[in-house]
Amino acid sequence: MSVLVASIAACSTSSDGTSEQTAVDAGAEASVVVEGDYEWHLPAGFPKPKVPADNPISVAKVELGRRLFYDKRLSGNGTYSCASCHDPKRAFTDGLANALGSTGQVHPRSSMSLVNVGYASALTWANDLLGTLEKQALVPMFGETPVELGLVGQEQALLERLRDEPLYAEMFPKAFPGEAEAISIDHVVKSIANFERTIVSGGSAYDRYVYGHDSGALDESAKRGRDLFFSERTECFHCHGSFGFADNVSHEGTVITEMAFHNTALYNLDGQGAYPAASRGLIDISGEPRDMGRFKAPTLRNVAVTAPYMHDGSIATLGEVIDHYARGGRKIESGANAGDGAKSPLKSEFMQGFLISDAEKADLVHFLESLTDEAFLHDPRFADPWGAP
Ligand code: HEC
Ligand code: HEC
Repeated sequence: MSVLVASIAACSTSSDGTSEQTAVDAGAEASVVVEGDYEWHLPAGFPKPKVPADNPISVAKVELGRRLFYDKRLSGNGTYSCASCHDPKRAFTDGLANALGSTGQVHPRSSMSLVNVGYASALTWANDLLGTLEKQALVPMFGETPVELGLVGQEQALLERLRDEPLYAEMFPKAFPGEAEAISIDHVVKSIANFERTIVSGGSAYDRYVYGHDSGALDESAKRGRDLFFSERTECFHCHGSFGFADNVSHEGTVITEMAFHNTALYNLDGQGAYPAASRGLIDISGEPRDMGRFKAPTLRNVAVTAPYMHDGSIATLGEVIDHYARGGRKIESGANAGDGAKSPLKSEFMQGFLISDAEKADLVHFLESLTDEAFLHDPRFADPWGAP
C-alpha cells in the first residue's frame, strides 16, 4: 500500500468549535493512490479518505456496494433503495424539502448530499455519535423514526432475497473471501460504505481554477464571489472551510478530528432560541440546552443542484440563503414558527450579519455555482448498475 503525502490543512478551533481550514494547495496535482487492488483517483488538493481497519477497500466490495445502493430489495416493500433519496444527478440528494420514506412517512430532515462523504467525521445533520458510514447505513435500513427503507424485523427475509440473486451469489464471496457466511447484514453495510467512500468530487470550475492552473475557469464575477466567501465580512469559510467546503472533515493523517455544530439562527420560536420540535439539532442527541439549533455545516460542493436548502429544506434558493446570513438570522413573521432568529441568544458568533449589495450577492451565488462538478454528476462509476446491459 502506498502512502499519499498530502499537505494537511492548517487548522485552528474557535470557541464554538468552528474550524478554520484552508487547503489552498495551489501547486498540487491530482494523484493516484493504490490501496490493495483499489486505485483512488484523488483530485488535486484532496487527501485520502480514512478507511477503517476492519473494512479495507477492494474493487469487489465497491462494485457490490454500488449494486446494493441501487437495489430496491433493500426496502421492506420493494419500492426503495438508497438511491431513491440519494440521486447522483442531484449530487446524491432528492430535490425534496423533507425526505419521504418507503412507506410514505415524512422525514423531519432533508436528504443530504453524499459528495465526499468518506471525509465526514460526523454523519447526518446533527449527531455526534454517528462517526462511520458502516454505522450510518444501518439507520436508513432499520430505523423506525422515521421509516426510510423499512427493514426492521426483516433481516432474514432481506438475506433470503439477496441469496436469490445469482449475481450476489458470485459477488459476496468475491468481496468477502474465506468467510463462512458471505451474505450477511454486516457485509451489506461494509460494501455500501466502501462504495460511498469512492464518491469523491473535486472537478468543479473552482477546482480547475485553483488546482488545475486554468486561469479562465472562473470568470470575474465568480472570482469576486470567491473573495467574498473567504472574507471576514461574510464569514462563510469559517464553517464551510476545508477542501470539502464543509466542516467535520477528517482524512488519513488527520491529527485532531473536528466535530462542530452551529446554530445559524434559522428559528427563534420563544425568544430563547427554540427550534421547531420536529428537528431541534444536536440537543435531540445530547439533551444539552446549549445544543439547541446546532447542526453540521454541510458541504457546498455541487450546492447549486441540491435545493431546497437547510436541514428542513426551508430555504428555496441560494440567493435567499445569502439573505438569511446577511440579516444575521431569519425572521419569520407569522405562523407556528414565527420569531426573529437574528435575536436568538444561541446563535453562532459568526452570525452577526453583514451588508451586501445586489451585485455582490449575484457574485457570491455565481461563486457557489462554480462549485458544481458536471462530470461528477454524470460519472458512470456512480450510476445505477442494474439497468446497464
Ligand atoms: C427516505 C430517504 C432516504 C433513504 C432511503 C436513504 N437516505 Fe440517507 N439520508 C436521508 C436523510 C433525510 C438524511 C439526513 C438524516 C438526518 O439528519 O437524520 C440522510 C443522510 C445520509 C448520510 C449522511 C450524509 C452526511 O453528510 O452526513 C449518509 C451517509 C446516507 N444518508 C447514506 C444512505 C445510505 C447508504 C442509504 C441506503 C442504505 C440511505 N442513505 C437511504 C434520506 C434517505
Ligand atoms: C456559523 C457557521 C456558518 C457560517 C458562518 C455559514 N454557514 Fe452556511 N451552513 C451552516 C450550517 C450549520 C448549515 C445547516 C444549517 C441548518 O440546516 O440548520 C449551513 C447551510 C448552508 C447552506 C445550505 C446547504 C444545504 O445543502 O442545504 C448553504 C448554501 C450555505 N450554508 C451557504 C453559506 C454561505 C454562502 C455563507 C456565508 C454567507 C455561510 N453559509 C456561512 C453553517 C454556517
